[in-house]
Amino acid sequence: MYPITLNKVNIVRRAFCFKFQELSPTFPLCLWSCNVYCHTSAKDVLQLQEQKGTSNSQVTKRRKKQRPSCPLVLNHFDKQYSEELGDLWAPARTVLLDPHSWQYGVMLNRFSSAKDITQILQSQGFSSLLLQSDIPTLLSSGPSEVSSSAYEAGNKSLQQLHCIPECSPNNRTSPSLSQDFQCYIHPYPVRFPSQAHRPGHLKQYYLLNAASLLPVLALQVRDGEKVLDLCSAPGGKAIAIMQCATPELLCCNELDPHRRAWLSRTLESFLPHSLSTKVIVSAQDGRSFGQSESRVYDKVLVDAPCSNDRSWLYSSSSQKGEQQLKERARLPALQAQLLKSALLAVRPGGVVVYSTCTLSSAENYAVVETVLKDCPQAEPEDLWDEIAIPLSKYFTFRPAHPDHGQTLQKPSLQSHNGTVSCYHHRLGILVVPQPGKTWGPMFLSRIRRKK
Ligand SMILES: C[S@@+](CC[C@H](N)C(=O)[O-])C[C@H]1O[C@@H](n2cnc3c(N)ncnc32)[C@H](O)[C@@H]1O
Repeated sequence: MYPITLNKVNIVRRAFCFKFQELSPTFPLCLWSCNVYCHTSAKDVLQLQEQKGTSNSQVTKRRKKQRPSCPLVLNHFDKQYSEELGDLWAPARTVLLDPHSWQYGVMLNRFSSAKDITQILQSQGFSSLLLQSDIPTLLSSGPSEVSSSAYEAGNKSLQQLHCIPECSPNNRTSPSLSQDFQCYIHPYPVRFPSQAHRPGHLKQYYLLNAASLLPVLALQVRDGEKVLDLCSAPGGKAIAIMQCATPELLCCNELDPHRRAWLSRTLESFLPHSLSTKVIVSAQDGRSFGQSESRVYDKVLVDAPCSNDRSWLYSSSSQKGEQQLKERARLPALQAQLLKSALLAVRPGGVVVYSTCTLSSAENYAVVETVLKDCPQAEPEDLWDEIAIPLSKYFTFRPAHPDHGQTLQKPSLQSHNGTVSCYHHRLGILVVPQPGKTWGPMFLSRIRRKK
């Protein structure tokens, strides 16, 4: 063991640690580092498909038996979301109730060799998400509304590109990515086979809901920054952060010990040993970071515990559904505490991204609004122009409705580049699953600490 001091955190590091070992839950840990090699080949993927009974041509046809949805939860969603989402709810409901329609993104791991995987993906009709050519065109198109033609362009073929410039022609900051960042998507609900964890081998790709990448894009992590992933397990966004940049430090925090073990395995599966000094696992209650590590981080991601609409809809019994609906009512208070803690842990000038995978206003806009009221040093930033407009060909976005949250009819705000930005755009943007663009639910909001 090599105890080292990092800022105000004592970190216990174990190099070459293949197995997760539980230490005190209050102790930050680094457990994932190991000797890893990246030798899974295209042959392995094809074998994997065969083992799972899915040849290339069969991938689209495979059908799992569908679990029934929980009527209690569905009824609750119907009442709440028809009010909050209006016309978008009926198609969103159709998607949520049909897991066979769900699309999956394939994020390649830049630390493993993935050339052969790229070829397989392309041969199966996958194409690269986030195209440079989309960004300037859509940003220069002006008004803060996504045109219907932009929405409808979603299923058109995509061109290859990975690096998005830091500044658009309008001087707005656009999503910025490492040259190596690659995520492939398919217009149809094709599920690429997942790779099993193999100690000593790096996985070549991570399967995800492509909307999960948006909070990471909004975070705009740069090389050399100190980043905190406050609620990190199972680690999908931590892996995405590491595809975008090489921070000086990425602290992956997770309170739940079982999920923390899962997080450690994810990191071990995707990151080479050489990064084990930069990526650490910590076991604090996220609500305490504001005190224990005040002003330490350049960027903080709060991917908050939330009522995960996709999975909660399939609660195993009405008793479980009832329990989850009770929990749903308690979540906004926890979420607000986590967000406040993050705003204290970030340095002045740094940013916090708050995200959830629920459509619920109470866990999204209302949480942001509550926290902003208590934190005069925090300023919400407009992600509508920066993310929703450029990426609307892939995702269906919805801004906060003026009637949502606790504040009605807030005045428009002046944005940094001189254009007028609506207050409710600044509270955050919501990806609503729709047929053909089934990504989401995903809410994201970016808040800058002024001082
Ligand atoms: C939505 S999940 C995070 C998903 C993760 N960011 C990813 O992309 O894979 C939220 C996580 O927060 C954890 N959590 C819940 N309460 C917490 C707390 N008080 N402090 C830290 N983590 C917490 C949950 O156990 C859960 O793993």
